[in-house]
Amino acid sequence: MNDSDLAQAADWLRAAQRVCVLTGAGVSAESGIPTFRAADGLWEGHRIEDVASPGGFERDPALVWDFYNARRANARVVTPNPGHYALVALEDRWGDRFTLATQNVDGLHRIAGSRNVLEVHGSLHRTQCLRCCKVADRGLEPLGDAPECPLCDGRLRPDIVWFGESLPEDIWAAALHAAAECDVLLVVGTSAVVHPAASLIPIAKRAKTPGAKVVEINLTPTEASRHADIGLYGPSGQVLPKLVALLGEPVA
Ligand code: OAD
Repeated sequence: MNDSDLAQAADWLRAAQRVCVLTGAGVSAESGIPTFRAADGLWEGHRIEDVASPGGFERDPALVWDFYNARRANARVVTPNPGHYALVALEDRWGDRFTLATQNVDGLHRIAGSRNVLEVHGSLHRTQCLRCCKVADRGLEPLGDAPECPLCDGRLRPDIVWFGESLPEDIWAAALHAAAECDVLLVVGTSAVVHPAASLIPIAKRAKTPGAKVVEINLTPTEASRHADIGLYGPSGQVLPKLVALLGEPVA
C-alpha cells in the first residue's frame, strides 16, 4: 500500500460530510471466517445453488440447515478484528452521517459495536418462518436440521438472501440512499461481483455531482477497482486502523 494514497484517502475522509462503507467477506477473513469465492467455485465443498437458493432449500432443507448451522457454529467462536473496530471508530466520528452496508451475515460488525448497519444479505442470527413469516433473532444457538417456528410450528429457513431473491426492501432503500448521498464510499473486502449490492459503487459515483470518492480496500484489485479513485491494497485489519489513525482528531 502506497503511503501517499493512504494520506489522500484520509484527506477525502476528513473533508467528507457523509461517509458510506460497503463491506464483504474479506473484512471478516482475519477473524477466521472463510471468504466465498475459492478457486474451486465451491462453498465449503458445496455448489452455491445447492445451499444458497430457494430451489436448493426445497430440494434438501436438511443439507441447507447443516450448511448454515456449520457457519453459525463458526460464527460463535470468532471475534471482530481491528478492521471491524476501525469502522466503529469511523461511525463514532460521523455519527448518523455514517452508514455501513454489509453483505456479511456473520453479525461481527454489530458485535464490534457498529450501530447503523444495513445487513443487505440478512443475518445468520435470524430465522424466518415459512408459515407465519415471523423473523426471529435466535442468536447462534444450535437449531438442528429441521427447525420449527416456536409460535406456529411452521418450517424455518435462515433469514438470508439467497440467489434469485430480492434484498429486503427497506434495508436496500436505506443503502441506496446512503450511497447516493455520501462524499466518500469505502469498499472493503468484497469481490464486487454480486448484484445489486455491488451496484452501490457506481451509484455513489454517479448519483450527484461531484460524485463520491471511492476508496477500495482489498488484498487485490477487483471488479470495484475500475470505479475506485484509490485502491489501498492490503489486509483490511491493517489498512483500516492506519486510515483511522491518520484522520487525527475531528476539527471542532
Ligand atoms: P468474496 O468471497 O466474493 O470476496 C471476498 C473479497 O475479500 C475478495 O475480493 C478478497 O480479495 C478480499 N479479501 C480477502 N481477505 C481480505 C482481507 N484480509 N482484507 C481485505 N480484503 C480481503 O465475498 P463477497 O464479495 O462478500 O452472498 O461476496 C458477496 C456475496 O457473495 C456474499 O454476501 C454472499 C456471496 O454469494 C450471499 O450469501 C447472498
